[in-house]
Amino acid sequence: MLIRTEHLCRTYKNGNNEVKALSDVELNIDKGEYVAIVGSSGSGKSTLMNILGMLDLPDKGEYYFENNNVRFLSDKKLSEIRNEKIGFIFQSFNLINGMTVLENVSLPLLYRGVPLSKRNKIAKEALKTVGLENRLTHKPSELSGGQQQRVAIARAIAADPEVILADEPCGNLDSKSGKEIMDMLSRLNKSGKTVILITHDENAAKRAGRIIRVADGTVTEENKKAVP
Ligand SMILES: Nc1ncnc2c1ncn2[C@@H]1O[C@H](COP(=O)(O)OP(=O)(O)OP(=O)(O)O)[C@@H](O)[C@H]1O
Ligand SMILES: [Mg+2]
Repeated sequence: MLIRTEHLCRTYKNGNNEVKALSDVELNIDKGEYVAIVGSSGSGKSTLMNILGMLDLPDKGEYYFENNNVRFLSDKKLSEIRNEKIGFIFQSFNLINGMTVLENVSLPLLYRGVPLSKRNKIAKEALKTVGLENRLTHKPSELSGGQQQRVAIARAIAADPEVILADEPCGNLDSKSGKEIMDMLSRLNKSGKTVILITHDENAAKRAGRIIRVADGTVTEENKKAVP
């Protein structure tokens, strides 16, 4: 089991105001699955993604990543796991504007201490996979939205993670670019990556092998995997 949660809770406290964003979430995701997490705005999807991606910790309940309880991992270990095992793709791309496309894609490898020539080789290959081999020295701001999202996908490919967490990756894209991104996610899953797609788009969710529905911070439906 790659991902398992037990009674996961996350409450945001804001002065006297409390928002229970997640309550008692129980999830199981196997290595190699393609899962869509679907729910309306405010249902808790991004909160869940932040916890699954170890950018945030639950305030109650347990989260096991590869059978390790994240509660007992040090900050250093958590950032190592994030760097090596998780590829993030966000609605707003989250690229670094002061860096070129090539530097953005090779950044996770820099953190890992991979030498420059090897970093560049891997990053160039990843950029070729997403059709951006002729944009290496551009800045993200000089690219279209669809191209920027392809850079983010190349960054995830270059880092060769175990799991790709995509939070509304097509939210800022036109339908043609959105379809290209969705095709790339499907290909990544076919190549063996676990893909977790967060979306409120039912059509996009249909591409996944399984749909998990979230409403008001709770999982209302966790479809069983289709038996082949
Ligand atoms: N940092 C925060 N502080 C306080 N409340 C927050 C914070 N982040 C999210 N919330 C609240 O938690 C709830 C869940 O938010 P979340 O961002 O997880 O929803 P979402 O399903 O991703 O929505 P969307 O589809 O609009 O992105 C919302 O009610 C939101 O207002
Ligand atoms: Mg969200």
